[in-house]
Amino acid sequence: MTILEAMKARHSVRRYISKQIQNEINNCNIKGGLNIQLITDEPKAFSGFLYHYGKFNNVQNYIALIGNKSMDLDEKIGYYGERLVLLAQMLGLNTCWVAATFNKKSTKQICKIQKGEKLVCVIALGYGATQGISHKSKDIKQVCKNETEMPNWYKKGIEFASLAPTAINQQKFEFSRKDNIVSLKSTGGFYSKVDLGIVKYHFEMGAGIENFSWE
Ligand SMILES: Cc1cc2nc3c(=O)[nH]c(=O)nc-3n(C[C@H](O)[C@H](O)[C@H](O)COP(=O)(O)O)c2cc1C
Repeated sequence: MTILEAMKARHSVRRYISKQIQNEINNCNIKGGLNIQLITDEPKAFSGFLYHYGKFNNVQNYIALIGNKSMDLDEKIGYYGERLVLLAQMLGLNTCWVAATFNKKSTKQICKIQKGEKLVCVIALGYGATQGISHKSKDIKQVCKNETEMPNWYKKGIEFASLAPTAINQQKFEFSRKDNIVSLKSTGGFYSKVDLGIVKYHFEMGAGIENFSWE
């Protein structure tokens, strides 16, 4: 953008993105019974050789995904975390799910983790230097069992599910369907339950929650 374009584009803005993200975090925490926290101006989580080298650069903000330890925590974190990721994208921000390549030790000291809670992973957040690139997606037949003629809503759900981020792009999930009852199962892998929650959210948005029920 040139300075002259900037003059044309400039208007007073009174609502800032962190407020909208924070509002949605509050909604997710209430709905999911979670303790997700927005951490801003905090470079430590992604500084240091391991996290910086070849990968993360200039990450100052992130969403810490925290909740009470339970069997379904990872899946809930995936589901609500992706809801936040997609809101951020709609607001013109960029994100990256991060389970491994961040400084978990220092992050744990910065967040407010209550007794019985766990920091599952974080989502790096900010204005990206680029918009990223599309990941390779598995063929529909590889993620969907026993289907010949799919209803439109199901097809659309799977199409959007295949756009979901998964750890190391593993896409280790499998859909099956009996009429309008849909089942989604993990076929293993790292952080597969978080992946499952993320994929579920994508499927719901693609298929339309009014069209089906989860098994
Ligand atoms: C649960 C989860 C954990 C992830 N952990 C990391 C990580 O530790 N480091 C990293 O660089 N990327 C991580 N990613 C990002 C994935 O590598 C990325 O989402 C995947 O390759 C697909 O690419 P896309 O997000 O550009 O579509 C993670 C993604 C998910 C869903």
